[in-house]
Amino acid sequence: MKEYIVATVEEIPTGEKKHVKIEGRSICIFNVNGDYFALRNSCPHQGAPLCEGSVGGMTVCESTSQGSLDQLVFIKEGEILRCPWHGWEFDIKTGKSINDPQRCLVKTYDVKVQSPPETLQAETYPVIIRSDYVIVTI
Ligand code: FES
Repeated sequence: MKEYIVATVEEIPTGEKKHVKIEGRSICIFNVNGDYFALRNSCPHQGAPLCEGSVGGMTVCESTSQGSLDQLVFIKEGEILRCPWHGWEFDIKTGKSINDPQRCLVKTYDVKVQSPPETLQAETYPVIIRSDYVIVTI
């Protein structure tokens, strides 16, 4: 396992994503409400580039407390990724398909945010980095 710095936190604001290539792997990094997630940039259906898909939420049908009337509820805003080719949907946090979570999923990678040291030595010049890093482990 190896860690790769892929961005500063400012490069991927909440609700945004960034496509990166690491060791030949195409990976999409998402910021979901301040938490970062990384998915392989390939749909398990026919290989579409998932980083080009739209991000939104989903509507589910919930029973009321009395069980007599169902109501539609919009949930997981910013957590659902729609494939740009045929619309399959995936949970960004788990990589699992919404329709078939047990059998269909997108490869996920560990992501963490880390503060830089006060000063780094690059070549012979001291460098000050003010942003936290987004780091992916593959
Ligand atoms: S390639 Fe993604 S749904 Fe078909």
